Amino acid sequence: MTSENASTETTREDIPLKSGAKHTKWYDCNDECFNGPKSINSAFGALTILITVALLVQIYYGDYQVVPHGSVATDSLECSKIGTQILKRGGNAMDATIASAFCLAVVAPHLTSLDAEGQLMVYNHRTRSAPTVIDFSSSNILPNKIPRLVVGLAYIHQQYGTIPWKELIEPSANLARKGYIVSKMLAQAVNRANAQDLFGRLEPGQLLRHDVLANTLLIIGNITEKELYSYIDSTNQPIKSQAVKSTFHKYNVYVPSLESIGPVLLVNLREIEEFNFTDVNVGTTKGIIQTTLKTFDEFNVTAKFHEGTSTNVAIIDLNENYVSLVMGMYNLFGSKKSTSYGYVLNVKNKEKPCSRIPIILADEQYICGKRMVFGANGIAQATQIVSNLIIGNKNATEGIEAPRFYLLENSTVAVEAFHSPKFHVQLLDYLNETHKKTILMPEPYYSSNIVEMLNDELSSHSDSRGGGIASRF
Ligand SMILES: *[C@@H]1O[C@H](CO)[C@@H](O)[C@H](O)[C@H]1NC(C)=O
Ligand SMILES: *[C@@H]1O[C@H](CO)[C@@H](O)[C@H](O)[C@H]1NC(C)=O
Ligand SMILES: *[C@@H]1O[C@H](CO)[C@@H](O)[C@H](O)[C@H]1NC(C)=O
Ligand SMILES: *[C@@H]1O[C@H](CO)[C@@H](O)[C@H](O)[C@H]1NC(C)=O
Ligand SMILES: *[C@@H]1O[C@H](CO)[C@@H](O)[C@H](O)[C@H]1NC(C)=O
Ligand SMILES: *[C@@H]1O[C@H](CO)[C@@H](O)[C@H](O)[C@H]1NC(C)=O
Repeated sequence: MTSENASTETTREDIPLKSGAKHTKWYDCNDECFNGPKSINSAFGALTILITVALLVQIYYGDYQVVPHGSVATDSLECSKIGTQILKRGGNAMDATIASAFCLAVVAPHLTSLDAEGQLMVYNHRTRSAPTVIDFSSSNILPNKIPRLVVGLAYIHQQYGTIPWKELIEPSANLARKGYIVSKMLAQAVNRANAQDLFGRLEPGQLLRHDVLANTLLIIGNITEKELYSYIDSTNQPIKSQAVKSTFHKYNVYVPSLESIGPVLLVNLREIEEFNFTDVNVGTTKGIIQTTLKTFDEFNVTAKFHEGTSTNVAIIDLNENYVSLVMGMYNLFGSKKSTSYGYVLNVKNKEKPCSRIPIILADEQYICGKRMVFGANGIAQATQIVSNLIIGNKNATEGIEAPRFYLLENSTVAVEAFHSPKFHVQLLDYLNETHKKTILMPEPYYSSNIVEMLNDELSSHSDSRGGGIASRF
């Protein structure tokens, strides 16, 4: 593997990275912010010279900011780093997504597996055309030759891949062989789902090796691309479609449409926009709760969609490809029994789509305005994050870490028992009043990982609920 260079990679999430010299500039964010046709003004040439001189000075002094920048946010620092390693080697966001997704199948067996299902959304901010959605959740994928997640990732590779398939899998095979640190979330999930048969009891912080899965990954990595793509036939075809777009407080909102909860989210956001909220406070949250309850009711959300497990990969690469992959299973640890190849099966007991959703937001008017890519599990989570980011104008960290409410199947509202920050006591009192007692949600909470850009600055954040850290360089 490529050795890590500490000076060009950072796992700090609290300082936005500014792009540097090798970032291929396709517009000038100080100058040409408006959408639509624009003329290059004469000052631009002079400005370019100034910038070039400034950058030469930076190169001379070896400032780390002169390397191209990209970021990967997942539920695991290891998996985020495996993604940025691929970006550093010249891979695009889609290559990095494949590598990180294999890694999550190793380190987060409670959430995902080689048999997991998922949806990918890919957007390019230079062309700004409607994002493409690739869905490998549907039952028309018959995982008879290769497992479902592998079908999905192989298809993504066929469509967009630039790095050899094998090289995208090897890091995860090595990680499974060498062992990974059990996260608090994984250890908790074992107890919660009674999945001790799989790995025994797990303690957070212990090293878990998985040789069988490592071998399986090597076998999958050994499949030639020609053979791999031949498995994607009419019986085994992910569904490709175009994302739908709506707007919310002067932001474009892109979500999948087919078989997805996306259109319901857009309706919910439209209703919330009508309140003209200008900040996220107790009153706003009450409005969001009421509106979302109404939407759940109107669209029969709990009957039509299943809340399965969810983990997501969010990536922006230096060519402004934005990728969000959401994936998961019907239940924690799926079948709870390992196949002879070392992964669990995704066992569904109802054929209804899951509620996980990839989301992209981009300032409607300013090209260099904020644009964000993330994933969520369900419209309550998605609506709250979109509201925090746009109405509350919160940065990536604050928008994701803000407290969340949950809508239970019986239409009651629950708040997180074990996450801080918590909701304002006035809101808790209000919930207490409306249903006698504030219901406290036990863990696990499904995470939402985000990468965002404002002008040329890149920020990212992995949700503390998922236990990951984003990696950037
Ligand atoms: C996000 O906002 C909080 C509060 O305003 C601030 O403390 C934090 O430094 C900000 N983070 C970033 C990445 O700007
Ligand atoms: C993968 O292919 C290499 C070279 O063809 C071979 O040496 C190795 O044994 C194969 N590994 C597996 C797990 O099939
Ligand atoms: C929100 O603003 C619009 C346009 O200014 C106005 O028509 C509408 O009545 C406002 N809605 C509320 C709830 O104040
Ligand atoms: C909601 O879905 C359930 C199950 O599909 C159905 O029985 C019920 O009638 C639906 N309710 C409404 C209001 O559509
Ligand atoms: C709704 O479900 C929650 C969790 O299962 C339970 O604690 C609560 O009492 C239920 N509320 C009603 C009104 O049935
Ligand atoms: C909700 O009400 C119960 C019973 O009246 C009380 O014990 C509890 O402290 C209240 N919780 C909040 C968060 O206000």
